Amino acid sequence: TSSLQSELAAAIRTIENYPKPGILFRDITTLLGNPRAFRRSIDELVHPYAGTKIDKVAGIEARGFILGGAVAHQLSSGFVPIRKKGKLPHDTVRIAYSLEYGVDEMEMHRDAITPGEKVIVIDDLIATGGTAEGACKLLKQMGADIVAACFVIDLPDLGGRKKLEALGVEVRTLVE
Ligand code: PRP
Ligand code: HPA
Repeated sequence: TSSLQSELAAAIRTIENYPKPGILFRDITTLLGNPRAFRRSIDELVHPYAGTKIDKVAGIEARGFILGGAVAHQLSSGFVPIRKKGKLPHDTVRIAYSLEYGVDEMEMHRDAITPGEKVIVIDDLIATGGTAEGACKLLKQMGADIVAACFVIDLPDLGGRKKLEALGVEVRTLVE
């Protein structure tokens, strides 16, 4: 509902010129610190999957861990961390992904997904979509059946939704 959208929007803080001049940074720490807004966000992310079997929630470092952990708990799913390179201790699969300026690499454990498992991907925000695209490609490489990629915030001008839809991934967002 629009009241949910306006409540969540009001709980998100905007910081000007962070991390660089000219950038308007959408800061979810204020939403996370607001008990009602945090609960409503998780409830809304979970709602379409209530009563369906989601095997794994894949959370993208770092803020996707906070939201994804809560979503996984509520769905009684497992949780899979998708991390920046060099942080996971066992055998990994790695992929380069594009950031607004430059590239980085992310990884997941090779044994984190069994082929055919139903997975939802969670992060706080989709901007260019480079991060979530990398995560979805890794998960598909490991045989995941990606049910959707879900975000609290969409920055629609940056085209991330289209990038994921081009991979055949359904995108859900709560606030623009
Ligand atoms: C932010 C955000 C998403 C990503 C979105 O993470 O939490 O993961 O950027 O941008 P994109 O759609 O253009 O790829 P960031 O890279 O700042 O990492 P952090 O959460 O570890 O700080
Ligand atoms: N907020 C948080 N993460 C981001 C943003 C933002 O505005 N833009 C790209 N990643």
